[in-house]
This record gives sequence, C-alpha cells and structure tokens, in this order.
Amino acid sequence: MGSRLVGYGSYLPEKVMTNQDFEKIMDTSDEWIVQRTGMRERHFAAADETVVDMAANAARRALNSANLTIDDIDMLIVATTSSELDFPSVAVQVLGALGAKNNAPAFDVRGACTGYIYGLHCARAFFSAGMHNRIMVIGAEKMSRFIDFNDRNTAVLFGDGAGALIFERSSSGYSGIIDTVVMGDGREFDMLHGSPDHKIIMNGPETYKKAVTLMPAAAQHIMEHAGITAENVDWIIPHQANLRIIQSGAARLGFPLEKILITVDKHANTSGASGVLALSYGLDNGYIKHGQLVLYPAFGSGLTWGAALIRV
Ligand code: ACO
Repeated sequence: MGSRLVGYGSYLPEKVMTNQDFEKIMDTSDEWIVQRTGMRERHFAAADETVVDMAANAARRALNSANLTIDDIDMLIVATTSSELDFPSVAVQVLGALGAKNNAPAFDVRGACTGYIYGLHCARAFFSAGMHNRIMVIGAEKMSRFIDFNDRNTAVLFGDGAGALIFERSSSGYSGIIDTVVMGDGREFDMLHGSPDHKIIMNGPETYKKAVTLMPAAAQHIMEHAGITAENVDWIIPHQANLRIIQSGAARLGFPLEKILITVDKHANTSGASGVLALSYGLDNGYIKHGQLVLYPAFGSGLTWGAALIRV
C-alpha cells in the first residue's frame, strides 16, 4: 500500500527582510551573511499573522491545486515548533479555519527542522497500515517569533512560511511517499534548543559540524533502505539551513550541484516548513516535474534527523 501526491501549495508572508535591512539594525553585513550562509532575504510574518494563518493559506492553495475541499482530507498533520498557543494543535486550528465538518483527526509533530520528515513518516505509516485515504502534511513556522535582534549569530538565519502537500492512498509503492527514515538523539540537546523566554540557543559551529555529517548520512541511509543510488534520484531538496552545509553534503555524496534545489537564498531557514516550501517552489517554477524522484534529507534541534523519498 502506497500513496501519490495529488496537491501542493505554499504561503510566504508579504514582508521581505533583506540582508541590507539587517545591516541597518545590527552589526552585520550582506557580504558576511551571503558568504557564511548563502542567505539574501527571508519573509517575516506580520505581527498579527499566526502560524495557523500561514498553514491555512498553504492548505487552501494545496486543496485548490488538487480540486478538493478540506472535508475530503481524512487526516491532517502539521509540522511546527513555533505555534503561538500551547494548545490546541495548529492542525486542529487549521481544520477550524477551513471550516472542516468531517471530524478528521489532526495533530502536530514537533521535530524542529526535521519536522516535515517526521510528518511524512507518520503519513507513510498510516497509508501502509491502510488506515487513511487522503492525508495532508503541512510544514508551517513563524521563526521570527524567536529572533533575538541583539544576537547577530542567530537573528539573520531564520524566516517564516508554510507549505502543504496532499497525498492519496494508492496501490503503487513507487509513487508519493516511497520511503522515510527518522532518527533522534537527545544527548545533543545543548547544541540547539529554545529557551523558556522563546529565544534560539545555538552553538553554530557545532551544529554546522553535525549537519554536514548527519544530512548526507540520512540520504545514504534512505538510498540503501530503498535500494537505489544517486543516479536514480532526480532532485535533492536538503533542509535549507545554510548553503555551505548543503554544498558540503552534496560533495560528500558525490551529488552534482545541478540536482540540488536551493531556496535558502530566498527563504532562509524556515525550520519545519523548509522542505515542503522548497518542493512547492520547485514545482511552481518548473524545476521539478511530475514523475520525478525527490530525495529529502533534513536535520534539526533535538538532535533529530532523517530523510524522505517522494515521487511527485
Ligand atoms: N554578521 C557578522 N558577523 C557575524 C554574524 C553576523 N550575522 N554572526 C556571527 N558573526 C561573527 C562572530 O561573532 C564571529 O566573530 P569573532 O570571530 O570576532 O568572534 C565570526 O563571525 C565567526 O563566527 P562563527 O560562528 O565561527 O561563524 P561560522 O562560519 O561558523 O558561521 C553560522 C556561523 C552561519 C551560524 C554557521 O556556524 C552555521 O550555519 N551553523 C549551523 C546553523 C544551523 O544550521 N542552524 C539551524 C539548525 S536547524 C533547527 O532545528 C533550528
């Protein structure tokens, strides 16, 4: 029992914050940010724009692209760690925002930047068990909520946005979410975590070192698990944390750079939204085509890491 991708959509807030905008408010430079991260701009949600608003906007676009309504969805999974409310879940609030009446189960997964891979993993499991027919996986984050504008080490790195994917159960094991692997290691908590006053605590160089080994390891792991090699993959969409991390991972695996979709320059690190947003961007702009095989490696706070293989 497998799945197929039937719809996708994304949402980016209107406000664009460029590196030059950061130059005006802190001791940083466009040159430093581009050289060290590859980031040029990111989107910031308006003060009254919530994670639920962004997730609901992405969901509406995904439903439109699939010609479906929210009542056609029988499970909703939202990857997020930046919800404004402790409860209820963003997922159930999205059902409310879209006026769902079908009592579908809806829940959040908190996997930080690996959140969307955890979400895809759950969806694959429910399809494999034959328990659900149409699952929407959303990644949505308002990372700007956590930005400390006195900390140049982390302030420039993050952005806001949301992406949504809709999968339908299918008898083919070769389409949709073909495979997933997810891992976690709580011993590395100190490297990267939120603080009780909602700030990002990060040891950048240590996180960097972990990222350049864990993302390629996850990619290798899933290719072995699925019995494929790099030649079989059309696109790699790594978690968009830093261009240098992405390039280093590609070099380790021998992936040609032309196969790597890059959005970190435009969106910065949108954490749990990063991969779904990037897939939507790739499809909207004609890079990724129907039938192609996409490999998704990710890592994040926890530490958590993993990968997904999707045929679009
Ligand atoms: N502008 C100018 N200078 C800066 C800035 C900035 N925005 N930020 C840091 N610097 C300075 C530092 O103060 C330091 O100066 P010093 O040498 O005088 O002390 C210098 O630049 C070098 O700092 P490093 O931290 O060593 O810089 P590095 O090359 O490691 O780059 C970075 C920093 C970009 C954060 C990198 O370490 C990185 O990308 N790490 C991984 C981060 C990551 O992926 N985080 C997301 C994880 S996913 C999740 O779950 C949220």
